[in-house]
Amino acid sequence: MGIGVFCFLHVNLFFSTAGFMKKTAWLLCVLLGCVLSVWSQENKRTIKITKKYLNLPVQHSEDRQQMKFEIGGVNIRTFVIRLSTEEPDYWVFADMSAFQGSSLTIRYPEKVKGMKQIYQSDRFAGEDSVYKEVGRPQVHFSSRRGWNNDPNGLVWYEGEYHLFYQHNPYEANWENMTWGHAVSTDLVFWKELTDVLHPDELGTMFSGTATIDAKNTTGFQEGDNPPIIAAYTAHKYLGEGDAIQTQCIAYSNDKGRTFTKYEGNPVVDSKAKWDSRNTRDPKIFWHEGTQKWVMVVFEKDGHSFYNSDNLKEWTYLSHLVGFWECPELFELPIDGNKYNTKWVIYGASGTYMIGDFDGKSFKPTSGKHAYCAGSLYAAQTYNNIPEEDGRRIQIGWARGMDHGGKMPFTQMFLFPTELTLRSTRNGVRMFSEPIGELKKLHTNSMQWSKLTTGEANEKLADVKGELLHLKLTVETLDGTSFQLKYKGNVILTHDMNYNKLNGVFYESDLAETKTVDLEVLIDRTSVEIFMDHGRFNFSAPLNEPKNQEGLSISGRAEIVIHHLEVHELQSIW
Ligand code: FRU
Repeated sequence: MGIGVFCFLHVNLFFSTAGFMKKTAWLLCVLLGCVLSVWSQENKRTIKITKKYLNLPVQHSEDRQQMKFEIGGVNIRTFVIRLSTEEPDYWVFADMSAFQGSSLTIRYPEKVKGMKQIYQSDRFAGEDSVYKEVGRPQVHFSSRRGWNNDPNGLVWYEGEYHLFYQHNPYEANWENMTWGHAVSTDLVFWKELTDVLHPDELGTMFSGTATIDAKNTTGFQEGDNPPIIAAYTAHKYLGEGDAIQTQCIAYSNDKGRTFTKYEGNPVVDSKAKWDSRNTRDPKIFWHEGTQKWVMVVFEKDGHSFYNSDNLKEWTYLSHLVGFWECPELFELPIDGNKYNTKWVIYGASGTYMIGDFDGKSFKPTSGKHAYCAGSLYAAQTYNNIPEEDGRRIQIGWARGMDHGGKMPFTQMFLFPTELTLRSTRNGVRMFSEPIGELKKLHTNSMQWSKLTTGEANEKLADVKGELLHLKLTVETLDGTSFQLKYKGNVILTHDMNYNKLNGVFYESDLAETKTVDLEVLIDRTSVEIFMDHGRFNFSAPLNEPKNQEGLSISGRAEIVIHHLEVHELQSIW
């Protein structure tokens, strides 16, 4: 019986029946009927898990609703999903490897077709075409399914670079924050593994970092090898725009494949101290000078510093205002001299300060500088890179890359860069250049010198492929600006008059030479530009192609291209 008809009949009876007791009884019946009627809309399916994946259909025109997975009456996962009611736009999956043989109950608030469509398989839906999709980045990591934002827990451990990241496994939009996971032995070719941190009663899993507890200060070590410790923010939404964000830790004794959350979480709870819902994104590292763990965490209006002996109990030390989310802090040699170092601090935008850090507070010795513009956001650097390598390697989120259309995935990470401090005539500045491993992708390489614009365009006309790495040294002889076009769109504009790259002012050093060095990395959906050996960089999504013409140079200036180098690239997949 429909809920409307049910209520109508009972309301009629209510008015026609005499006596208070009877009326009350009927009223209770009506209420119970309504409750039962709504409750019976809930949908439930029980499946014995015998395959690796549970494939779930998503339809974007549907509202998000809460899905629950239960095993033996215990909730093992709760998330929101736009389960399809008709034809799915795409499929997502939940990895069920850890629950083989169990009886899984799936709950969803409504009876929709999508509930029946959910199926198990040892392959996730679309696995045959993964990484071959039209808009799939080919030289940058992106997740197989769903959404990614910030890189998390960047750490090198026993020959592997780990890339954990903010992941929504169930939709190509931000939600359900979970830590995704990929590994690489060279930062170029990646293998995506199973998600490691799922939302729990403390909240969804926001950004954080990872480190190696070499001295087993936590006591979490099992066996001979030290554990990986992840520090993350649990974000609990309290409604009406309010939230509580606490800092938690988890450990792994199987090379980052699975993590156990510390039972004493949260380890830092500072909402009351700051009277703010913004307390998040812990960066943790071992500070040699004080022989303590340091946590830099964003709180309200800047970055706070805490320290600890065991990563569990933290002492608040100091605060530096003027940064927003995703703190980074690390020491770098100036011009490669390890006896002359400075510390760099930044937040999500990447604007940074240089200064001194004694393990307790950061004393800026510079104002704010910028080394980048465009898509880069929430970039983080690797902890625990072996000393013989010694590089400070950064990966940033390429914010806003949707790769066109209704793809079952969106966003990506920028190509890893090496950060260095170098002296310039304006003082010491941070540089960011693609790591040398990019060469591994070179297939067909060409290079020329001393070209006019016309000569360069003749050479560029022969360049094939959509994955390209270019290096060029350009001197402006007469006039102000030149451009690089690709598939009918301008992807690079250099303006000597305003000293701008793609419309953004950058601080040049040897400006009087009127010569710039440019390095350009073109993927299917993105472009990254590095100026003057990483002094300034710019990243952006590519616009829809206007034609299929490749690269060409044009502009309002007479230029000489002293050096032009083009490498066609192979895919990382
Ligand atoms: C930055 C950020 C972080 C937060 C995360 C949530 O992009 O807002 O501050 O932890 O994203 O996904």
